[in-house]
Amino acid sequence: MRRKLVVGNWKMHGSLAQNKALIASLIANLRDLKNADFAVCVPHPYLFQAQALLQGTNIAWGGQHVSRFEQGAYTGSVSARMLADFGCTYAIIGHSERRVFMHETNMTAATSFGAALKAGLTPIFCVGETLEEREAGVTEAVVESQLIAILNTLGAQVLSEAVQQRAVLAYEPVWAIGTGKTAAPEQAQAMHAFIRRKIAERDSGVAARVRILYGGSVKPSNASQLFAMPDIDGGLVGRCSLDPNDFKEICRAAC
Ligand code: 13P
Repeated sequence: MRRKLVVGNWKMHGSLAQNKALIASLIANLRDLKNADFAVCVPHPYLFQAQALLQGTNIAWGGQHVSRFEQGAYTGSVSARMLADFGCTYAIIGHSERRVFMHETNMTAATSFGAALKAGLTPIFCVGETLEEREAGVTEAVVESQLIAILNTLGAQVLSEAVQQRAVLAYEPVWAIGTGKTAAPEQAQAMHAFIRRKIAERDSGVAARVRILYGGSVKPSNASQLFAMPDIDGGLVGRCSLDPNDFKEICRAAC
């Protein structure tokens, strides 16, 4: 039985004062929820604050990106080891917003995935199709190519490393992100099952264990139906992770 996981992706939101209030509410709201795992992925400058306020609670923290390079002359970049230095458990990798706005590719995302594993982090690797791709009937091919990039870039042994570090996948249809449009539970389930099947073709043990989160307008009103699906192991939540009451309801739906 896979334990559910709910991760808040704060994206580029927050300030020291706002985070302090939000984290205090989250700690109070989630304290009594014992039957799932919870985390928030914060902008890099706030990792120190997240660590200071969240250590010892049932909420883990992480970053939203790591450089594919280990260290060196890469101005503006943040390495996986730096995230580990601030006690991060998780790092979101290959989010569609980074693919679109920061020109990340399957190859760079896969290399960052490897860098996160090497630093002892649990990567949350995002895959998902755009509306145009869905309408063109190539959803499965697109998602498969995003997954395969990990194996092509890092080699087949990455699967055992990934499972050791409890790597997480997130299916985030781009057309559902920040739009209020959510994939229907059955539609999301079909893609989660597809992703698990693709992994099972290579290693059925890994496929059975890997947690696959759904992301894209998860809200209190749809979380229970989504999380009831057999291959949906929790959520990667954007907008509603900034509201402590909405996030609480979503976390409660995972328990
Ligand atoms: P929303 O929940 O705001 O749609 O964002 C989803 C997302 O991108 C999580 O990574």
